[in-house]
Amino acid sequence: MRRLTVCAALLSAALCGVLNAEEKMSMSDADKAMYAELLENNPAEMDVAEGEQLFGDLIGAEGYAKMLGVNEKDLAAYLAGFPRYVEPAKKVVTLSQTIQMAAATAKKPVPKLESKEMVKMTAYVKSLANGEKTSIDVKANKHMEQMLKLGQQVFEERRGGRGLSCNSCHSADIVGQRLRMQPLPDLGAKETAAAGTWPAYRMTQSQMVTLDKRFQQCMNNALLAKIPLGSREMVALEVFITNKTKGNEIQIPGLKR
Ligand code: HEC
Repeated sequence: MRRLTVCAALLSAALCGVLNAEEKMSMSDADKAMYAELLENNPAEMDVAEGEQLFGDLIGAEGYAKMLGVNEKDLAAYLAGFPRYVEPAKKVVTLSQTIQMAAATAKKPVPKLESKEMVKMTAYVKSLANGEKTSIDVKANKHMEQMLKLGQQVFEERRGGRGLSCNSCHSADIVGQRLRMQPLPDLGAKETAAAGTWPAYRMTQSQMVTLDKRFQQCMNNALLAKIPLGSREMVALEVFITNKTKGNEIQIPGLKR
C-alpha cells in the first residue's frame, strides 16, 4: 500500500521496480535499537584509528600540510573545504586523491581509491576537521565553477535501463517520501549532512564506506552504470553534493543505515 502511494507520487513505473530492490535495506525495530547502540560506540572508530597509523607511516600531518602548501595549524579549516582545487595537482581533487598525492610525494606505493586502507586514511584525514563546518567554495575559481556545473549535469542525467537520475529520488519535490520503508533523504538537510558525515559506518554493510562509494551504491541500486572513483564526473558529483550540505558540521565517522 505504501509502495503504491509512492509509485503514484513518482508517476514512474521504472522507479517502482527499483523500490522492490531497496526493500531489504529498510530499518526494523531491531535495527533501530542497534543503531542507537552503535551511536554510542561506532565500530568505525577503530578504522579511523587504523587510518591514523597508516597515514602516519605514509606521510603524517606535517608532511601532508607541507605538500598541500598550508600551515599545519590551518589544516583543519583547509580540509573542511574539500573537494577543492589544489595547485600541485592543477585540478579539483577529493581528500582521498590528496592522500594519493602524498604517497607519490613520499615515494611510497600509491594506495588505490578502492582499497580498505584508503577508506580508513580518508576517514582519519577528514576527522582532523571534525567540528569544522563544511566550507566548500564553488566560486573560488573557474575550475570549481566548472566542476559544480558538471556535477549538477551528472546528478540530473537520466541513465540506465530505467532512465533514472540521482535527481529522480533526491530532488526537492520528492525527498521525505518513502521508497518502501525508507525515506528518500534530502542530501543537503541538516539531519542528513551528507558531506559532513561520510566516511560513515553502514550498518547494512557492516563496514565503513566513503561518500563516493556511497554514490556508487545508489548507482547499483538504481541500475545506473557505475561512474569510476576518481573520475572527473565522480569528483564533480562530490562537489555538487558537498555544496548542498555546506555549513553542516563535520563529524567523522558517521553512522548510517
Ligand atoms: C531509486 C532511488 C534512488 C536513486 C536513483 C538514487 N538514490 Fe541515493 N538514496 C536513495 C535512498 C532510498 C537512500 C537512503 C538509503 C538508506 O537510508 O539506507 C539514498 C541515500 C543516498 C545517500 C546517503 C545520504 C546520507 O544518509 O548521507 C547519498 C549520498 C545518495 N543517496 C546519493 C545518490 C546519488 C549521487 C545518486 C545518483 C548517482 C543517487 N543517490 C541515486 C535512493 C536513490
